Amino acid sequence: MTQIKKIGLFTSGGDAPGMNAAIRAVVRTAKYYNIEVVGIRRGYEGMINGELFPMDGKSVANIIQRGGTILKTARSEQFKTAEGRRLAYDQLVKHGIQGLVAIGGDGTFTGARIFGSEYDMPIVGLPGTIDNDLYGTDFTIGYDTAINTVIDAVDKIRDTAESHDRLFIVEVMGRDSGLIALRTGIASGAEAIIIPETKRDINALMDRLENGRKDKSSKIVMVAEGEDPGGAFEIGRQVKEKFPNYDTRVSILGHIQRGGKPSCMDRVLASRVGVAAVEALRDGHRNEMIGIVHNEIAFTPFEHACKHHVEINANFLKIVEILSI
Ligand code: F6P
Repeated sequence: MTQIKKIGLFTSGGDAPGMNAAIRAVVRTAKYYNIEVVGIRRGYEGMINGELFPMDGKSVANIIQRGGTILKTARSEQFKTAEGRRLAYDQLVKHGIQGLVAIGGDGTFTGARIFGSEYDMPIVGLPGTIDNDLYGTDFTIGYDTAINTVIDAVDKIRDTAESHDRLFIVEVMGRDSGLIALRTGIASGAEAIIIPETKRDINALMDRLENGRKDKSSKIVMVAEGEDPGGAFEIGRQVKEKFPNYDTRVSILGHIQRGGKPSCMDRVLASRVGVAAVEALRDGHRNEMIGIVHNEIAFTPFEHACKHHVEINANFLKIVEILSI
């Protein structure tokens, strides 16, 4: 066990519902173990600019139910440079910080990995992203809330689609991961799901529309944004061209997926990994993400946690194929 007396805490990258619950868990656990917490606003950017302030148990009261992040967040270009990281390290030393808890996703952990290899600063990460695209945790903080937001929205779209006998192409977030589309496609009874992992197969979608049942009054096609947000419009254009008899509309759900009250699952996940983060720093862990795999706390080095390893469960696609006949 190390004698860590002061830690820094920040959120970085895209916000995710449940980040506040994670912040609360880290601050309260640190208090429990008599460790001081310094909050860092706006992620790495705020670290560089010295936006550091003391946090206590009271400063995280009444936030477990709130979406967004009270620490604010940013995507920092400066931290990608050696000079930016040096400025950040100087700030940490100035404030007597002996360890860091980073809450974020792929970009956050890539930054943490590089920083941890350059400076003697233990860092542990908590998986906070709606995309669920990190290896080493079954679910990321924010994913459950986001997929529930999506199905709530798609249920509403279904009502109007049904009334007008329309086909809707619905685009969801996920950057280059299709995990939001995959689960919400099943849960909302989608006709087809188009995700980057299986390469957008527009021909398969056309076949499905050509040869599938014609008597359905509404159809939903779930599209993951992929590298190219707004790509659903192009799919919509091609569908309209090939099937002029379908009354087709495109709906991009966008940033509503990132907001809102975190679900119970996200609050509990955030609380569990938040407690584990402080205990991990005390136990001498560094350069690892803390997730939950098969209901147990799991430690994964940052370099393995980043998304390229997450595989799509082919059964999920098969389920859509079977259930949408
Ligand atoms: O990583 C979370 C996420 O919401 C992605 O799903 C999406 O591609 C991206 O962030 C959008 O980022 P921004 O809000 O910076 O445009």
